[in-house]
Amino acid sequence: MTTRRGFIRNTALAAAGLAVVPSLRASSKIVAPSDRINVGVIGCNGQGFSDLSAFLENPEVECIALCDIDDSVLARRAGNVEKIRGKKPANLYKDWRKLIDNKDIDVVIVGTPDHWHCIQMVAACEAGKDVFVEKPIGRTIEECNIMVKAAKKYNRVVQVGQWQRSDPHWQEAVDFINSGKLGKIRLVRVFSYQGWCPTIPVLPDEPVPEGVDYDMWLGPAPKRAFNRNRFHFTFRWFWDYAGGLMTDWGVHLLDYALFGMNVTTPKSIMAMGGKYGYPDDACETPDSLQTIYEFDGFNVLWDHAIGIDDGAYGRNHGLGFVGENGTLVVDRGGWEVIPEKVNGKLRMEAVPLKKGTGKGLSNHVKNHLDCIKTRNPKTNASIEIGAHIAKFSALGNIAYRTGKKLVWDGTKFTNDTEANSFLVPQYRTPWNLPVV
Ligand SMILES: NC(=O)c1ccc[n+]([C@@H]2O[C@H](COP(=O)([O-])OP(=O)(O)OC[C@H]3O[C@@H](n4cnc5c(N)ncnc54)[C@H](O)[C@@H]3O)[C@@H](O)[C@H]2O)c1
Repeated sequence: MTTRRGFIRNTALAAAGLAVVPSLRASSKIVAPSDRINVGVIGCNGQGFSDLSAFLENPEVECIALCDIDDSVLARRAGNVEKIRGKKPANLYKDWRKLIDNKDIDVVIVGTPDHWHCIQMVAACEAGKDVFVEKPIGRTIEECNIMVKAAKKYNRVVQVGQWQRSDPHWQEAVDFINSGKLGKIRLVRVFSYQGWCPTIPVLPDEPVPEGVDYDMWLGPAPKRAFNRNRFHFTFRWFWDYAGGLMTDWGVHLLDYALFGMNVTTPKSIMAMGGKYGYPDDACETPDSLQTIYEFDGFNVLWDHAIGIDDGAYGRNHGLGFVGENGTLVVDRGGWEVIPEKVNGKLRMEAVPLKKGTGKGLSNHVKNHLDCIKTRNPKTNASIEIGAHIAKFSALGNIAYRTGKKLVWDGTKFTNDTEANSFLVPQYRTPWNLPVV
């Protein structure tokens, strides 16, 4: 008998035909074992668990494994799964490779810090699992390229955690932009102001906390003594593991700047910023940054700040497509058009706020599950989409770190060797950049 799991594996290996697709009774609470989708999560403190919670909204999904290098996170999240589903996951791992080796797992959620995504995503693909990988998919251009190759080579259905791609109001906003009513767009202002985000005071290094496999947290990143600031959640403010707000929020929002303007590759990139708000805190990444991406006839401006909320248009995050007739503003809450008023005359009608569903992540996971069942690699945020925007955001950080105006040809910088040294990461032994 061909089970659904066997079917998924076999079609993946055959790379092809969708002639027979077993039906899944997603609406029913009782799901036949062969129709079940078994999920395992690597890195379950923050977003990894939010992703899992969205998967568990679907009755055909079962969480059979959790993995985290921190015992306390693992125990807490196993308890949370028990509350949702009445039983703890059967397998709790501290070493993610055991989760990958578990043949019963169909889908792996990668919810670890950015420096781990490439290794774990590629290993999951190689083991024949579909993957929900958090954004930004990689820290460097080369990692992103490798991840795209892996999904393709192993025929996996991959969704990147850019869930705005599944909240319909973003698409409605893009449709309005495409209508041309805004007139010529000269600037896309993309901003993320995070007033709630606390500064982190400098802390001394300390012994590794009980129950933490710190070497496995560091993985391919350089070895150094344990410091709480560089650990759960706040790792995103340190270059060894992530790219600060430029990539953390950048991938979500810049994605729509490119999508809305129907462009891919900037002509040049320059960036200026620094630790203007908190010069003495522990973060390495800038708390204030403006990055300009140059395109033909318009610029995309990335603007971020930590510790203040007043971004633009009375919002703390979003995009403004600044046209000659009006500005379309879109954020996670909805979209609207603010008309240009020149010499007392309105150049177009206002479009009042159209609210989003607020269900982006749930929709996003549903889209992934649907694509898994039909073996459709074109998920709403495919690995190609995730890779493109992770690279685009990374360019901003390279421009900031080199302090130069950089010219990019789509694969390399043509005017600066130092900038090209950021394209491929150096992994700490025994970890290697995956070869696909
Ligand atoms: N899509 C979204 O809206 C969204 C929101 C927040 C965060 N994220 C992304 O999710 C990822 C995680 O961010 P977070 O804020 O949840 O971080 P976090 O530090 O809260 O959680 C990461 C977890 O991964 C674990 N971990 C680290 N290395 C591991 C390894 N080798 N094996 C197993 N577990 C390991 C850590 O112990 C921790 O529990 C980041 O890439 C971030 O950008 C996405």
